Amino acid sequence: MNYKITVLPGDGIGPEVMKQGTEVLQQVAQLYGFGVDLQEGIVGGASIDAHGQPLTDRVLDLCKQSNAVLLGAMGGPKWDGLDYSIRPERALLALRQELGLFANLRPVKLFSALAAASTLKQEVVEGTDLLVVRELTGGIYFGQPKGVTKLPDGTERGVNTEVYTTPEIERIAHVAFQAAVKRRKKVTSVDKANVLEATELWRKVVTRVHADEGYAAIQLEHMLVDNCAMQLIRNPRQFDVVVTTNMFGDILSDEAAMLTGSIGMLPSASVGGKVGMYEPVHGSAPDITGQDKANPLATILSVAMMLRHSLEQSAAADRIEKAVEDVLNGGYRTADIQQKDCRLVGCKEMGQLVRDRIGAVKG
Ligand code: IPM
Ligand code: MG
Repeated sequence: MNYKITVLPGDGIGPEVMKQGTEVLQQVAQLYGFGVDLQEGIVGGASIDAHGQPLTDRVLDLCKQSNAVLLGAMGGPKWDGLDYSIRPERALLALRQELGLFANLRPVKLFSALAAASTLKQEVVEGTDLLVVRELTGGIYFGQPKGVTKLPDGTERGVNTEVYTTPEIERIAHVAFQAAVKRRKKVTSVDKANVLEATELWRKVVTRVHADEGYAAIQLEHMLVDNCAMQLIRNPRQFDVVVTTNMFGDILSDEAAMLTGSIGMLPSASVGGKVGMYEPVHGSAPDITGQDKANPLATILSVAMMLRHSLEQSAAADRIEKAVEDVLNGGYRTADIQQKDCRLVGCKEMGQLVRDRIGAVKG
């Protein structure tokens, strides 16, 4: 088997963490006897500098013709002043939309070695193992009308629109229920149905899919987003699969990341189209760029998700995840998860430690 992978390192710490991720990928490819053909593309701020736009047709085509896409991070202060239509983040939104990636899977699993690394109490975070299923190509991120207009009195009016249609809600509900079948069989659907009509529809459709489409074995509960934000840090063990809208998922997944010690630990998979895209949840972290301080584990774990979801190489994925766990158990930490009595390592060394461990463990 030979897989074509498009690699988009992006901006900030993206290239540093991606290097560690692709080296892990090449290592397991060799160990498990499959080929990976890595094609690199420029996106985000780097693409604005080179081509005047955050995503070129050439890079988009490259993505469409590959088996999967690995993405680093996009954006930085250098491009913050640009018009919204050509900001680095636009590339991310365009990739999601063009590749039809309507489902974003963000597993929030605490490695037990990091139970004391969180800013939250150990007894609260212990045992956290949940999956955020975020709708990714709809909602207020894409709804029309949008934009800022000038009013006759000289003031301005900014508009974004939350829109969801029945088919959009149905398909993301299926993703959540099917994920729950393989997990602890509970889905929490998060909305703001007491105020927002679009999410009242969300609740109605999720309820119907649950009742009518053969998910009787799954327990479904509905939760308002404000309550969910509180419950996540009050008692995260109550959650198995959390399914929610694009914007609520964006916010809740950053919050949930802190249960694992650091957002530097969180991988993600964006699926639903022909080609899946895999990326760390963290951003480009301009403040630590180029200092060998970034945590590469979210990217390395995203490589594992790609192996499992897009390449059907789950043994290789298991081996990576086990190696990450072993390295953390061995007391090695990047700065974001540093703890007393642990050894502080940089991005490169953390990547190397994981590869050493992959090489040492019998698969
Ligand atoms: C994320 C990010 C993006 C989003 C930004 C960079 C556009 O925060 O993937 O969570 O809001 O979706
Ligand atoms: Mg986000």
